[in-house]
Amino acid sequence: MINTDLMLEKIVDETNFDGKIAIILGSGLSIISDKIEKSTTIPYSSIPNYPKTTIEGHSGEFVSGELNGVNIIVAKGRMHYYEGYSFDQVTIPVRLLSKLGIKYLIITNSAGSLQIDNPPGHFMIADSHMDFTFRHNSDNPRVNSHSIFHDSKLIEVAKSASENLSINTCFGCYCWTLGPSYETPAEIQDMQRLGGSAVGMSTVPEIITAAKLGIKTLTISCLTNYASGISTTPLTHNEVVSNANKFDKDFSVLLEEIVVKVSELN
Ligand code: HPA
Repeated sequence: MINTDLMLEKIVDETNFDGKIAIILGSGLSIISDKIEKSTTIPYSSIPNYPKTTIEGHSGEFVSGELNGVNIIVAKGRMHYYEGYSFDQVTIPVRLLSKLGIKYLIITNSAGSLQIDNPPGHFMIADSHMDFTFRHNSDNPRVNSHSIFHDSKLIEVAKSASENLSINTCFGCYCWTLGPSYETPAEIQDMQRLGGSAVGMSTVPEIITAAKLGIKTLTISCLTNYASGISTTPLTHNEVVSNANKFDKDFSVLLEEIVVKVSELN
């Protein structure tokens, strides 16, 4: 396993971070980090041995500081399998955050909606996930809804935050694919048949690693598009990022409310 000690040293030296809450931001999502006060920014490129993010829409930096008086650290951008990284590499941020003392992790991503009732612009609070990468076998993926992966208290917090703000949210199962190509309509039908609600190319390695490290996790997807076959036009990365930008403001309002409520837990 890749040693993260030097990476940790760099972040601790620059931030003196002692908060309990972290957010990982997906493609095209960044406004929440602009609201952080007394902020320190650490580009991933300045962290020893830290993998580079190569994807447009991912800025590649940690930002720490205070959000509404709550200490927080945000990872802007992540690594993916389709960039050639291993499980070990894509989960470096989570292992680092654990060593920093994080207790609550909010994972965000952009995803395609599998359900006509959940149009682009809705935010999906994940209550479960499925692994559609078929890396180990070709068996049908199973729904994982255990609270070690999708903390029930955090789901409640997200639900009540979205109700307070009247922001369109839904609940569902996040399906993880390897990418980088988008799915075929037949693959999407398969996911729907097995109980999937949204599809994306990240997040599940982070959920699994956080669970192993005892971090309580909440996953929220910004639904940027209808998945292949539901949408009849071919999907592009530019469309995903530009729609994420469009919904980023509402997403940041929702995330801010959630962070404040999470800080009041215990
Ligand atoms: N499929 C896979 N990943 C995605 C999608 C999609 O439709 N939208 C955003 N990320």
